[in-house]
Amino acid sequence: MSQFDLFDDIHNRILGAGSYAEFKKRLAGSACQKCALKSSRTHIVVDRGNPGARIVVVGEGPGENEDLQGLAFVGRAGQLMDRLVREETGLDANSDFLIINVVKCRPPGNRAPKKEEAQACLPFLNRQLDLVRPAVVLLLGATALKYFDASKTNFSMQQEAGKFFNLENRPGIQFMVLFHPAYLLYNRSKEPLFRRHLRDLKERLLKIPQLSTP
Ligand code: URA
Repeated sequence: MSQFDLFDDIHNRILGAGSYAEFKKRLAGSACQKCALKSSRTHIVVDRGNPGARIVVVGEGPGENEDLQGLAFVGRAGQLMDRLVREETGLDANSDFLIINVVKCRPPGNRAPKKEEAQACLPFLNRQLDLVRPAVVLLLGATALKYFDASKTNFSMQQEAGKFFNLENRPGIQFMVLFHPAYLLYNRSKEPLFRRHLRDLKERLLKIPQLSTP
């Protein structure tokens, strides 16, 4: 068996997990070598929150705190998101969301993931959605949006943030685009607009039957 077969085997074993808990255990404990981010990571960051939640939040990739703790969105951006979500929707990020990222390993210096890194990691993201079967997916920022909606090659977040859309290959999921909370940290003037988008989300959630029944 060549080294490549061995890596494909590891990958297939992770993707073949039949439950979210098993998937998470296999991915977090793997020595995934699928892309160059393997060299700069401390932890493979699978998620934060509740795999039983009906709302999945997708960010870009782990930052320094996430890499050290092995949990998604636990740094300043995540704390800001949690607070604004709580204030505007009453939802609790840890129990009402499952929070994941396009890439599971930290890009050096917190740069955006390269296309080949995102493509290598997307099977994990897709498997997460297959296992969790959310009713709503919130895409935080341009990286999450462009890897979900391949038709988006040239767009501005100023135009996309706040929009709802559906995808043919993911029927039954309501997608919404939001500003990435790290962007808000440096552009505080956008916070009122982000809050308005969260209120629009709250209104939309009330109309989704799977979310109004316990
Ligand atoms: N930014 C992200 O996109 N994801 C994280 O988990 C943390 C910061």
